[in-house]
Amino acid sequence: MKTLLAPSILSFDPAEFRPRIEEVCGLGADLIHLDVMDGQFVPPITFGADLAKRAVEIASCPVEAHLMTMTPERHFEAFANAGCFRIIFHVEAVIHSHRLCSELRAMGIEAGVAINPSTDVEALRPLLDVMDMALVMTVNPGWGGQALIPSCLEKVQRLRSWRPDLPIQVDGGIDDTTAATAKAAGANVFVVGSYLTRGPMESAVQALRSAWP
Ligand code: DX5
Ligand code: ZN
Repeated sequence: MKTLLAPSILSFDPAEFRPRIEEVCGLGADLIHLDVMDGQFVPPITFGADLAKRAVEIASCPVEAHLMTMTPERHFEAFANAGCFRIIFHVEAVIHSHRLCSELRAMGIEAGVAINPSTDVEALRPLLDVMDMALVMTVNPGWGGQALIPSCLEKVQRLRSWRPDLPIQVDGGIDDTTAATAKAAGANVFVVGSYLTRGPMESAVQALRSAWP
């Protein structure tokens, strides 16, 4: 299964979103990951569908929205209209996760479902046939720059054993070292935030690519 680099714009200076998105796309990003926070599901507030629309215009690769919000279904239409190809919601934030996956697919949008570090991976099992990607959070959502929680990778292993063909995304604390560990556990889509801003982005992307040959 193809290994994909999904830069998060969360750690970019908002004043530089355009050049940073252009730069990371130019370096071969496979998709752009937007961290949408509502101040309820997680304490911080980030941005909404207006910014997603601009990101879609700027990016030369597909854009996905990771909704760290309560009642994420209220926002499906806005992010779909903004041009996001995939919308990821948290299983902890909804009651009818199975139906919501089907609703996204009916809208022509890929359905991604995320689980927090404290959520059992069994929560995803009933959704395997209706979702297009699982997101295993490897930090507690809300902030960039945290250290990866190793026990989360056991969930990746279990998911991979259930479904060899399912795209599995990891999000949080990914750098050139943890990327290799997460890849070995079975992840194939890597969200990377702060690691891209610690030095020249080009060297960070190169180091990541060599972590998953
Ligand atoms: C965390 C977000 C992540 C975050 C990752 O709540 O979902 O996408 O931007 O940032 P790093 O890579 O710095 O852990
Ligand atoms: Zn995210």
